Amino acid sequence: MVSPRIGTPLTPGALRVMLLGAGELGKEVVVALQRLGVEVIAVDRYPNAPGHQVAHRAHTVDMSDPQALLALVEAERPHLVVPEIEAIATDALAIVEERGLAEVIPTARATRLTMNREGIRRLAAEELGLPTSPYRFAESLDEVRAAAAEVGFPCVIKPVMSSSGKGQSTVRTPDEIAAAWDYALAGGRVDLGRVIVEGFVDFEYEITQLTVRAVGPSGEVETFFCEPIGHLQRAGDYVESWQPQPMSERALARSREIAATVTGALGGRGVFGVELFVAGDDVFFSEVSPRPHDTGLVTLRSQRFSEFELHARAILGLPVDTALLAPGASAVIYGGIDAAGIAFEGVADALSVPETDLRLFGKPESFVRRRMGVAVSTGPDIETARARAVEAASRVRPVAP
Ligand SMILES: Nc1ncnc2c1ncn2[C@@H]1O[C@H](COP(=O)(O)OP(=O)(O)OP(=O)(O)O)[C@@H](O)[C@H]1O
Ligand SMILES: [Mg+2]
Repeated sequence: MVSPRIGTPLTPGALRVMLLGAGELGKEVVVALQRLGVEVIAVDRYPNAPGHQVAHRAHTVDMSDPQALLALVEAERPHLVVPEIEAIATDALAIVEERGLAEVIPTARATRLTMNREGIRRLAAEELGLPTSPYRFAESLDEVRAAAAEVGFPCVIKPVMSSSGKGQSTVRTPDEIAAAWDYALAGGRVDLGRVIVEGFVDFEYEITQLTVRAVGPSGEVETFFCEPIGHLQRAGDYVESWQPQPMSERALARSREIAATVTGALGGRGVFGVELFVAGDDVFFSEVSPRPHDTGLVTLRSQRFSEFELHARAILGLPVDTALLAPGASAVIYGGIDAAGIAFEGVADALSVPETDLRLFGKPESFVRRRMGVAVSTGPDIETARARAVEAASRVRPVAP
């Protein structure tokens, strides 16, 4: 791939990139692209989303509406279309790609396969032969009962289309199944009424293996790995992450093999977040985001180039450098209150923690369990970095306006 010519933003020669989804992760990608002189168009479903606030142009559009999405791409004519969220009309992306209207990152097929747990699970386990938890798909309470009996207890029931743990529950005994089924039906993104029943993996730790497909020294797309990121999930949401997660040599090698295989099968260029469960030297594939990953916010401080900068470079056809600078950690700052236009107290206190930085996302509305910011720290080791990030996050207090 010949790297595209970067012109001057807001002139006919501009290189234009459209972000579909402009949350906190998209915002960082927008900033990274802006720094490289790219003209950026940010799209989200609500006005004044974090990425809207730093883009050249902002649009508020229902991205699950294929007509609306297509009309926007036709009006803006970006060179690249970069999905930041899963809930997108991926058939519209396929049309964009087919008609050559823009390049879809990493590919339209990758966004379609990864937005649905069935698509990516069948690819990973059945086509690529990667190790995963045992699983079955089900569409009724009776089918869920049969599926759970086959995969065994405990098991995890998830809508095939959902993220951030929505509609997901762990079931320990058969009499918990009905409630889990109802919860999945209520929590799915679109009412598919279809769930995956996964055997519970009793992992020691879980990681995100950030994997970058970018043009390498050979002039072809090559695969690059960041140091593994460990993380802690609570109620389906990540609350802390750190890098590098200590791993056995064999588990690390296995993780990278799996990551290279699945990202290679998805193709295209960009950052992928490959989620893996690790027990001893055994590694199980869980899922993959064809975009920067929330647990990767830690890379804002721990790496020479954050996952967002790496994504920007990779999608533009530019070289990447995945080096770690220092052990790092991130800790999430939740809204804690339901209110619009909140303020943050304790910011100076938080920033007086050594080697620490903050991102306050600027979301117009706060919810008790909405991620409103993150603290990111480095240190001589991950324990120190984690303690610093957690301390800094706890010093930030969202308050009513
Ligand atoms: N089969 C399983 N065995 C054990 N733990 C699991 C299993 N599936 C999921 N989990 C736990 O639940 C978390 C969320 O699961 P998963 O990544 O599938 O959901 P998600 O809704 O896609 O979350 P996100 O969008 O935040 O990545 C995992 O990171 C892991 O901690
Ligand atoms: Mg996940």
